[in-house]
Amino acid sequence: MSRVIYVNGRYLPYAEALVHVEDRGFQFADAIYEVCEVRRGCIVDETRHLARLERSLSELAMPAPMSRAALSRIMRETVRRNRVRDGILYLQVSRGARPRDFLFPPAGTPRTLVCIARSVAPEMAEARAEKGIGVITMPEMRWSRCDIKTVMLLPASVAKEAAQARGAREAWFVDAEGFITEGASSNAWIITAGGELVTRPADRAILRGVTRVTLIDLLAREGLAFAERPFRLQEARRAREAFVTSATGNVMPVVAIDGEPVGDGKPGPITRRLRRLFHTAAEMSPLSGPATRIPSFAAIG
Ligand code: PDD
Repeated sequence: MSRVIYVNGRYLPYAEALVHVEDRGFQFADAIYEVCEVRRGCIVDETRHLARLERSLSELAMPAPMSRAALSRIMRETVRRNRVRDGILYLQVSRGARPRDFLFPPAGTPRTLVCIARSVAPEMAEARAEKGIGVITMPEMRWSRCDIKTVMLLPASVAKEAAQARGAREAWFVDAEGFITEGASSNAWIITAGGELVTRPADRAILRGVTRVTLIDLLAREGLAFAERPFRLQEARRAREAFVTSATGNVMPVVAIDGEPVGDGKPGPITRRLRRLFHTAAEMSPLSGPATRIPSFAAIG
């Protein structure tokens, strides 16, 4: 079955899904995006992803390409046409195509909107989670507005290549004060010897992960000790368990940091339990009909 991609109002075969070479996303990374998980035919945490998309747009003074309801219809149609039951949904908005100029294009320039849905075999992610992943650390090299989900992903790409070259799967950035900011494409968490779950506050140095926020809801429901505070690499090395969160990896155990084992070097029991329970705390929206749960708050701060 050939894949179909939504581009600016049309559902096109993969090979014909093109945008202009003077698109501002291509020349200036002047574009924002979202990645949602699709699980058992449902879009996971759609409300929070669309709220974050709107926040990214507004922080960059980029007008929304259409209403939230219209975006939601396109997301569903893209999933449907690609027959994705388990996989990912990618949505990107750029400021549009114009002859190259650093200044923003005039108001009314149509934004470029792309929506892609792709199947991912759930067994692959499960197998990875069973073993856990290694992370490497490296100095933070991104800009000071990592809370905006832009397509400016070269540092993340370079970091992940470096991780792979060292037999790891993710890179954790470390800021000038020695604190972990986050992963190249995930939020970073540790569980201390005392059993407290710790993740960095959602400041401008990290993306306000949707998976992170839903997990915080789950921790409250489960009565687990939780602290939102910065943590240093030394503390992470002493952690009992560690993991990362993202729409593509869910709750993914981290079993080694820079080649040194975390805890006993195996996925920890709390991490495993949170991974199992995660979707019970998430909003699950079928392609038609109401969601099984509406999050207690739609905005993610
Ligand atoms: N990345 N931090 C960064 C830098 C990210 O790129 C991501 C997600 C996250 C986790 O956010 P969420 O829980 O909303 O997925 C944190 C996506 C999955 C990607 O770029 O593929």
